[in-house]
Amino acid sequence: MKKLFWILLLFSFNQSFAQLSASDNKRVENLMKKMTLEEKIGQLNQYTGNFLADTPVITAEFKNEDIRNGRVGAILNVKGVKNTRGLQELAMQSRLKIPLLFGNDVLHGLHLIFPIPLAEAASWDLKAIQKSARIAGTESSAYGNHWVFEPMVDIARDPRWGRVMEGAGEDPYLGSLIAAARVKGFQGEKLGDTDAVMATAKHFVAYGAAIGGRDYNTVDMSLPELWNIYLPPFKAAADAGVTAFMNSFNSLNGIPTTGNKYLVREILKGKWNFKGIVVSDWGSVGDMIAHGYVKDDEGAALSAIIAGCDIDMEDQIYKKQLPKLVEEGKIPMKLIDEAVKRILIKKFELGLFDDPFRFANNEREKNVINNPDNIKAARDIAKKSIVLLKNENQLLPLSKDIKTIALIGPHIKSVRENLGFWSTWWPDDSARIISQYQGIKNKVSANTRLLYAKGCEVNDTSTSGFAEAINIAKQSAVVIMSVGEQFDMSGESRSRSDIDIPGVQEELIKAIYATGKPVIVMINAGRPLVFNWTADHVPAILYTWWLGTEAGGAIADVLFGDYNPSGKLPITFPRSIGQIPIYYNHQSTGKPPYNDSVAYYRTGYMDLMQNPKFPFGYGLSYTQFKYSDLELSKSKIKPGEILHVKLNVTNSGKYAGEEVVQLYIHDKVASLVRPIKELKDFQKIFLNPGETKFILFNITKEKLSFYNEKLEFVAEPGDFDIMIGSSSADIRLHSSFELLNQ
Ligand code: GLC
Repeated sequence: MKKLFWILLLFSFNQSFAQLSASDNKRVENLMKKMTLEEKIGQLNQYTGNFLADTPVITAEFKNEDIRNGRVGAILNVKGVKNTRGLQELAMQSRLKIPLLFGNDVLHGLHLIFPIPLAEAASWDLKAIQKSARIAGTESSAYGNHWVFEPMVDIARDPRWGRVMEGAGEDPYLGSLIAAARVKGFQGEKLGDTDAVMATAKHFVAYGAAIGGRDYNTVDMSLPELWNIYLPPFKAAADAGVTAFMNSFNSLNGIPTTGNKYLVREILKGKWNFKGIVVSDWGSVGDMIAHGYVKDDEGAALSAIIAGCDIDMEDQIYKKQLPKLVEEGKIPMKLIDEAVKRILIKKFELGLFDDPFRFANNEREKNVINNPDNIKAARDIAKKSIVLLKNENQLLPLSKDIKTIALIGPHIKSVRENLGFWSTWWPDDSARIISQYQGIKNKVSANTRLLYAKGCEVNDTSTSGFAEAINIAKQSAVVIMSVGEQFDMSGESRSRSDIDIPGVQEELIKAIYATGKPVIVMINAGRPLVFNWTADHVPAILYTWWLGTEAGGAIADVLFGDYNPSGKLPITFPRSIGQIPIYYNHQSTGKPPYNDSVAYYRTGYMDLMQNPKFPFGYGLSYTQFKYSDLELSKSKIKPGEILHVKLNVTNSGKYAGEEVVQLYIHDKVASLVRPIKELKDFQKIFLNPGETKFILFNITKEKLSFYNEKLEFVAEPGDFDIMIGSSSADIRLHSSFELLNQ
């Protein structure tokens, strides 16, 4: 392995970076020849600015001094054109005037905030997701940024983990398509356009598999599991042309990813031939000391630079340790040059050497916000992200002429909460962000009376507000409740040991339910929650996640039927915390499948049903869909042959609506046990009442392949089941075929 590593390392140096013109490549070479060791290492050093502070210099004066002396390559957390321009002017005082890169976290929008990524994943609408990232990238570049630390593409199966809200859920296939869509969205047509920003695939890798769902915790898994589940979205991002990767905080199989040669040198820069930049996560170079992987800063710098981490985010270890390591011959200059070259290439591609201020345009910054088309796009994807979990007796949609509606719950009048975590720049003009109350008020007729009572706080033990809430419920024709987590109960460093609806909110729901009035509950959260009583009793439930700036309008669109909900869960909702981890693409085990009656061989728990509360891919509509006429082009296919899967879907209800038609396979016998089902295709289709659409799926070799014990990506001959469903647990049509040996 060691020899292979050094071969790969030397090979990677000689790569001329094809994406630059010959003349620009020459400019990079010439510039590097002029650079001192200190200036080269300066390019590997990234500082944070002052976050939301409105200042063109950094509070810690030594950082400004470093910028003036060419000892900084990139800065994050600088807000707006004025401030990025101010710091770029400092960089232009340096000897070689190498421009700074400005990066930011723009997970789901910068000024206009979109639904959290987990919510967007529930839309299964790749075009809308790409558009959302495109708008975020446009705003980010107009605010003087060159680089966003997104998309987060970590597969996550444990809803206790707070960062589940940042990604696309539990499935590698859906997660890979969304990763690519987000990369293309952020990066736009091409790097160098002033509305395009560098995107970053993070956190590399398997951060979502932290033991116990505890953030930053240890990750340990087999290499086939890593390759089959956790790497695919990163490979999809790389294939989509992502410009950067970010190391994760966790260790993987005993080695912190920031110092993990296998991951960065062998896989990313080797096998995948990645030409972009690898940036550490915040201080993750130095974290290797606490991991117990290196003894001190010198060891951390040595390990990270050898492993292929190009930029050290905000812990100055590269700045302080690399000069000595080079001078003492502990690392070859080539290692530094390889990292510097990757960074300079991107600065050239962005056009920063021709004009360091080309992203610092006051006019563009002013004009990009409050763009009506963008606001419309934000509302569009927000309503598509809502998942209808229950709708007994078609309680929804509501009429806009209802006489009296009681609006109850701590989130009915929330404003800022709707933006969720990582809404970094929390826009100053919050006037545009309307509450769910206001959204409903804007929707209903003038004759409708809205009564409001908060009922209780989000995370409180007091029931003193119940009486008022019960009172207004009794006066109303229908009750709409909005409950859930606090917006910052999910996100970084926000793992929860219990994922119930916090405080006394479910008691409030029970009290309102007891009035006998029809109740609709909306649940706002950045993760799946456990709410069995509500799920078993309340007739109508919407999962509204955190939907961003347009939450109020989008929710009202769905409640009153201006939009028929089409969201499908991108992650499994457990019945209890005790079920975790629980996910749809599990293996069969050697015992009977889900069957709560067996006395022995029960693969579940004695005290709990074995299936989840709501399965992956689940979501209702105001209409119904019928699946029919499944037909396979062949019952046996040769290796490499494409299998065509055809069927019809009909809207058999009375509302026009969208359905996500999902195709799963089961590789029934293989050299490694395969999951009982794997999502391998889907189509989101619109159908008017009574309309039938013909659907065609093409099953390629790649969709039948997996990484075997030797990590070869193979499609093994044998029998496969094909399952077409409206969710992973609602399979409507079955068939099977054989993959021949030859
Ligand atoms: C944080 C996060 C990472 C983010 C970075 C910069 O700790 O882990 O996702 O991009 O630091 O803010």
